[in-house]
Amino acid sequence: MRTDSFEVRVFRYMPGRAKSIEIKACLKIVLRGRKGNGMAKAKATVFFCKECGYESSKWMGQCPGCRQWNTMVEEPAAKPGASQKMPGRSLRWPNRGKEGTPLLLSEISADEQERMETGFGELDRVLGGGIVPGSLVLVGGDPGIGKSTLLLQVCRNLAARGKQILYISGEESLKQIKLRANRIGEVEGELRFLCETNLEQIQEVIEERKPEVVVVDSIQTMFREDISSAPGSVSQVRESTSVLMQLAKGLGIAVFIVGHVTKEGVVAGPRVLEHMVDTVLYFEGERTAAYRLLRGVKNRFGSTNEIGVFEMLEEGLSEVKNPSEFLLSGRPKDASGAVVACLMEGTRPILLEIQALITESNFGMARRTAAGADYNRVNLLMAVLEKRCRYDLGRFDAYVNVAGGLRMSEPAMDLGLVIAIISSYKDRPVDPAMVIFGEVGLAGEVRAVSMSEQRVYEAKKLGFTTCILPKLCLGKLKPVEGIRLIGVSNVKEAISAVW
Ligand code: TYD
Ligand code: MG
Repeated sequence: MRTDSFEVRVFRYMPGRAKSIEIKACLKIVLRGRKGNGMAKAKATVFFCKECGYESSKWMGQCPGCRQWNTMVEEPAAKPGASQKMPGRSLRWPNRGKEGTPLLLSEISADEQERMETGFGELDRVLGGGIVPGSLVLVGGDPGIGKSTLLLQVCRNLAARGKQILYISGEESLKQIKLRANRIGEVEGELRFLCETNLEQIQEVIEERKPEVVVVDSIQTMFREDISSAPGSVSQVRESTSVLMQLAKGLGIAVFIVGHVTKEGVVAGPRVLEHMVDTVLYFEGERTAAYRLLRGVKNRFGSTNEIGVFEMLEEGLSEVKNPSEFLLSGRPKDASGAVVACLMEGTRPILLEIQALITESNFGMARRTAAGADYNRVNLLMAVLEKRCRYDLGRFDAYVNVAGGLRMSEPAMDLGLVIAIISSYKDRPVDPAMVIFGEVGLAGEVRAVSMSEQRVYEAKKLGFTTCILPKLCLGKLKPVEGIRLIGVSNVKEAISAVW
């Protein structure tokens, strides 16, 4: 930091008011960047936001980038010229064109590259139809959720199809990997393992062997020697990913990066590298529940919002091809407060059970909780029921739960929620062969939702015989054999259609 120039302004006050002359000197401080004229003294440390990677020369309680509190961490500044030494710099991306020459769209060849199937239909769909060669995929998730298991199974499937695979682990020893591999079944073909955390070494191996798919487990353990901070720090994670990106693009290798997400702690969240990679997948679910959801958050080669459903078994992960059947299995058929709703996850309809429990409140203030649904939405819908349908719900505690531990936020869930609440309030069960969907507005009206046809067909496929849906959606639908469709235009109509 250096004082570059300053302005002196002289202000004369109104005569008689004040005799003195106030001199105000406004100092303009010009912050010189690292590429300054050499006068600037390089700072030994910088501060990074763990969440979004915002860089700052001083510590701040709140990150200006993502507005999170207490996320700034101190790290040694990168050595000058570190990025010039970046090993991947010399690599040229195929199809990149002559340096500095802009190309017309017609001059760019875009041969559709053949995608590799992973052997898991659920994963292929989330990836947009298989693995794209040269892509960089980040698989994030809580520790112990099954990321390593999933990727090892993918590697096994790909190796069995004759692909050359390299699995790099910085977390487990070769022996531990072997034990895990024994659980998931026999491994055939060219699947090689490497225990290494030094990226220069890893780069050499990759350049020498040129595998088709590389898995790096996990990015938080990788480090570059030319960066002084510890593995897992924001700058290491970021720079390591940039090397892997150069390798993926330069050699046309599909690279999977595993990243642990931690709420807080020393390990940098993989959030900071979301913008660098082509695809971001999150593997989520309760560690105690058997099933896991793979969610696409960003995808340069396909749609996001797709989910893949897996189940953790003794011998690794197995895909759940029909999640609705899985989610509805074991539901009580004649309990009040349970409703089957049909929601869309990406392009796929999913049937699930919404449960509500309404009990008289013992305290002055009614308790409300919502698991798997938006808490504010539940409050809003209860207010609509009180005001528009004259139900006296203020005296009652309300507990809402989406069975199976899924977290849903689609508005099409509203009508299901409303009926579940009324069902519990009246203590009258809903027909177990009935599916309900529709958005509820503040006036108590039932509004149209998208993709009603897919929802109805999914319900029919699973043996449901009645469907309550918005009247506007019914107008656009052809009659479907085997399922009775009831169109409703407001909440009152829906309630009288159910009972
Ligand atoms: P893991 O893939 O090691 O998680 P991550 O890489 O995301 O940290 O999975 C860990 C959990 O999965 C562990 O608690 C044990 C369980 N598991 C099974 O239930 N069955 C299996 O066949 C395997 C390999 C793991
Ligand atoms: Mg792991």
